[in-house]
Amino acid sequence: MSETWSPSSWRERPAGQQPSWPDTGEVDAALKQLSGYPPLVFAGEARALRTELARVAEGRAFLLQAGDCAESFEAFNANSIRERLRLILQMAVVLTYSAGVPVVKVGRIAGQFAKPRSAATETVDGVELPSFRGHIVNDIAFTEAARTADPQRQVQAYHQSAATLNLLRAFTKGGFADLGRVHAWTQEFVAASAEGARYEELAGGIDRALRFMAACGLDTTTVPGLHETDVFTSHEALLLGYEEALTRQDSLTGDWYDCSAHMVWIGERTREIDGAHVEFFRGIHNPIGCKIGPDATPAEVLALCDVLDPERSPGRLTLITRLGKDRVRDSLPPLLEAVRDSGHPVVWACDPMHGNTFTSTGGRKTRDFTDILDEIAGFFAAHEQVGTHPGGVHVELTSDDVTECLGGAEKIVDGDLDLRYETVCDPRLNGRQSLDLAFRVAELLTTRR
Ligand code: PEP
Ligand code: CO
Repeated sequence: MSETWSPSSWRERPAGQQPSWPDTGEVDAALKQLSGYPPLVFAGEARALRTELARVAEGRAFLLQAGDCAESFEAFNANSIRERLRLILQMAVVLTYSAGVPVVKVGRIAGQFAKPRSAATETVDGVELPSFRGHIVNDIAFTEAARTADPQRQVQAYHQSAATLNLLRAFTKGGFADLGRVHAWTQEFVAASAEGARYEELAGGIDRALRFMAACGLDTTTVPGLHETDVFTSHEALLLGYEEALTRQDSLTGDWYDCSAHMVWIGERTREIDGAHVEFFRGIHNPIGCKIGPDATPAEVLALCDVLDPERSPGRLTLITRLGKDRVRDSLPPLLEAVRDSGHPVVWACDPMHGNTFTSTGGRKTRDFTDILDEIAGFFAAHEQVGTHPGGVHVELTSDDVTECLGGAEKIVDGDLDLRYETVCDPRLNGRQSLDLAFRVAELLTTRR
């Protein structure tokens, strides 16, 4: 590891998963444009999230990180932003009540565009074209023009992120996130759905708590903490040129922050210790995440902790494990023990999605709701065994009524997947499956408490 870091020092290292842009002049022009634009978030906000995540690391808060696998340039409108936010808020209320601690809400939103791929090209009927890498790079249509990486898409992604963040800020501060309102939506879910009926008792408890507070004079519309909230943004910082262009020095502290989002994470495919991503991340002061897949050894994880969090600062590093339901119970405890013994105060979050993906008989990439719950249960069990904090969950979801993941109360089966399979990348939980999941995690949290 070189001693000197700069926002561009990653350029001296091998960077995996970068698009092959046809014209480097155009890339430089787009990045120059971005580097002159205003930051999307401010250093002080990233520090506030770091403080909240420090509480998660100590077991005094719970992390809910959720949103699209990949945001789309097409499904970009006020409705879709509001509904995703509404779902995250509903899940958070259920979790807050059960955990009895604050829930830190982080969206995979306002910048979650770039996707790593298992192969650089895709071949259909003998025609080989570059893989789709997310709307920040190219388009999903299988034509040469659509699949050619277009640097100006990075500028479009910036503008879409800015508009999305603007609406998130307006909704979270303008009364939409009022606790009474959010709970009323959840009551509709409980009253109207088969799976909701299971949660009548829990929802009734929230209802009584709200009425008790009102009786004590704590009206949700007048107490700021009950009327507004914070929802932070995050994405996989995959395209290092884009991230570098949005990295700015904080005038208050002199530290560097990647101002493309409050939190950014390193994906499973780009976490090589000597790679460009780790080099970039070690120098930014945002709270950061790193995905940990089933083949990661304790030594590898410790090496990542040492480089990414040398000062052992709580809230700095979140390790997002995505081990798969079959491996989590065996593979997670040794990682938890090694990190605990090393004294790194990380947040442990469970991504139950990416280790449980398979191809359905009809050829769709999918995940089964039961497997997702199983990995979360295994995650909680591993923490119980080792005596560490299960810090949170990291899930891919949409509020739309899609049919992308199997199972859930609607019992989505293989043959249903084609009905409304709308994701531009990985299969997401739909609105009902997501709320169902929140209640299941709530049960695990209540048992633990
Ligand atoms: C993702 O979060 O969408 C992703 C690609 O995950 P991972 O890096 O864990 O495979
Ligand atoms: Co994904």
